[in-house]
Amino acid sequence: DWTMEKFVDKEIERIRAMVGPKGQVIGAVSGGVDSTVAAKLMQNAIGDRFHAVLVDNGVLRMDEAKIVKKTLTEHLGINLTVVDATDLFLGRLKGVSEPEKKRKIIGNTFIEIFQDKAKQIAEAAKDSPKAGDIEWLLQGTLYPDVIESISFKGPSATIKTHHNVGGLLEGMHLKLIEPLRELFKDEVRALGTNLGISEELVWRHPFPGPGLAIRILGEVNEEQLRIGREADKIFIDEIVAAGLYRKISQAYAAVLKDRAVGVMGDKRVYGQIIALRAVETTDFMTADWFPFDGEFLKRVSRRIVNEVDGVCRVLYDVTSKPPGTIEME
Ligand code: XMP
Repeated sequence: DWTMEKFVDKEIERIRAMVGPKGQVIGAVSGGVDSTVAAKLMQNAIGDRFHAVLVDNGVLRMDEAKIVKKTLTEHLGINLTVVDATDLFLGRLKGVSEPEKKRKIIGNTFIEIFQDKAKQIAEAAKDSPKAGDIEWLLQGTLYPDVIESISFKGPSATIKTHHNVGGLLEGMHLKLIEPLRELFKDEVRALGTNLGISEELVWRHPFPGPGLAIRILGEVNEEQLRIGREADKIFIDEIVAAGLYRKISQAYAAVLKDRAVGVMGDKRVYGQIIALRAVETTDFMTADWFPFDGEFLKRVSRRIVNEVDGVCRVLYDVTSKPPGTIEME
């Protein structure tokens, strides 16, 4: 009979046998559930011979790189390197407003940065007497991803390619290690809890690889990023305070491309428009918009307009999927 404890023990044994006494593994982490659980499992199996890399792509949420770094290193003891590539990403995104172009730039730049870092870590690892070459790449692939990549060649096949860097690390010939490939999301959460990862992280909503770049409609710039981050933080904080975070599958604040007129104090202003989105879903293929009560929306709207400089309107998206998508771009 299957229990989580047995799964963990068996998986750790399997990883150790596969990697060998000196083998090393590298993997990208995002702060999301899957990559964190996979990383923690590796840490338990081979300690610092697992190297986690977090790329700050400049389109993360407020303080996200800092928070992820603290959680992974201080709380979970994972050997983590953070690469701040904000300037490179934002430079390449300058003047780009088409959603798929933004995705491509972010995906390709991510691979480039991750590859450079992997090579650096591999070079440094060579000098360590306790360890051998980096031969393995960790991926937090789940069972549904395995099925999907076999059976489904729709838009999300391209989505997955952004995160799938396996085989793309030129000249390194890394073998894939996918400890979660037989698990469903709820099992990954149970595994995470079993490994001592906080409830907060285990139940974190998914966040797309292209990050805020697909939640800021049109061109991404520093000002839009500031507005998007501040508005998103208020919205999510209020969702948590209202005890709704777990009931909602994904929520965020988007920054629209247009402006609107408003009155603030006694002045007419021409400001930014925030669109809030929150959905309930089990599989992310279909989704319903979340029916907040009016008082909640009133509170969030008032806070965003009062606290986020430059915003004069807040809208709530009442489109389900289909026909809408969960993201706005
Ligand atoms: P959509 O917007 O397609 O989103 O209804 C479904 C789920 O996929 C996530 N998503 C992405 N994840 N790269 C990602 O890593 C992407 O380009 C991307 N686009 C959408 C979205 O956040 C939701 O969970």
